[in-house]
Amino acid sequence: MDAGSDYLREEIRIARSLTDKPFGVNVMLASPHIPEIAELLAEEKVPVITTGAGNPAKYMEKWIEAGSKVIPVIASASMAKKMIKAGASAIIAEGGESGGHVGDMTTMALIPQVVDVCEDVPVIAAGGIGDGRGVAAAFMLGAVGVQLGTRFLVAEECNVHENYKLKVLSASDISTIVTGKRLGHPVRSIKTPYSREYAKLEYTDIDDAKLEEFGTGALRLAAVEGDEKRGCFLAGQISGMINKKQTAKEIITEIFQETENILNGAKKWVK
Ligand SMILES: Cc1cc2nc3c(=O)[nH]c(=O)nc-3n(C[C@H](O)[C@H](O)[C@H](O)COP(=O)(O)O)c2cc1C
Repeated sequence: MDAGSDYLREEIRIARSLTDKPFGVNVMLASPHIPEIAELLAEEKVPVITTGAGNPAKYMEKWIEAGSKVIPVIASASMAKKMIKAGASAIIAEGGESGGHVGDMTTMALIPQVVDVCEDVPVIAAGGIGDGRGVAAAFMLGAVGVQLGTRFLVAEECNVHENYKLKVLSASDISTIVTGKRLGHPVRSIKTPYSREYAKLEYTDIDDAKLEEFGTGALRLAAVEGDEKRGCFLAGQISGMINKKQTAKEIITEIFQETENILNGAKKWVK
């Protein structure tokens, strides 16, 4: 096992020692270490596995046999159907407004269509949800839960570089850009000299290997070094309405208070 696997195993054991409640591990399927990680998760019998940036079907049988509940992130109703067939316990439907890896569909169009194919499998909405209005809307579209990423980038507990947080806090609604479509892994990030240059290069005759090389290390440069020129600051369109740092607890409490207020007032729309 390499150092990364040892680290993951240790983190799982720490999580297990801290709670007797279920906890989850997220698997970025774009990582080259996935086969090894998949094996480790089965050995450790992790209660919940969520996956992002790809199709986890070939690992699902093993994880489910080990007793895990598998919750894949998908970006289309057809992929939701495949994941249900493969045994998913729930589906995270993520619209392209989100930060990080993105599909083409918007949350507004995606959620109800995924809900329709999921029948009794619960759907969790993601992408562009930044406050209670978004959560209430997701529930109205048929989701039973939400997954937020961008709003938590500015949480006190989030250990990205301070410059990353400042980028999100100062962003407007149109501050993000999607790059990487040409290589098959589009991501949404905040516009920076790096992302603008990447966007230009994608439409030149630069070869794929060189383009890949141009992007290598940019996530680390953003998150760890806070490099405003060469970093890729993954963040979603909702960045434009994030304007204060809070603890994770404050964010969750505030969002669900807003959600309750909105849903309590929703009767005004019906006779
Ligand atoms: C900085 C950043 C890193 C992310 N990394 C992952 C990841 O490792 N695995 C994953 O499944 N999703 C990842 N996501 C997606 C989030 O889990 C979530 O689905 C998404 O952020 C929701 O949309 P929002 O950004 O509009 O809140 C990431 C998102 C952001 C903003």
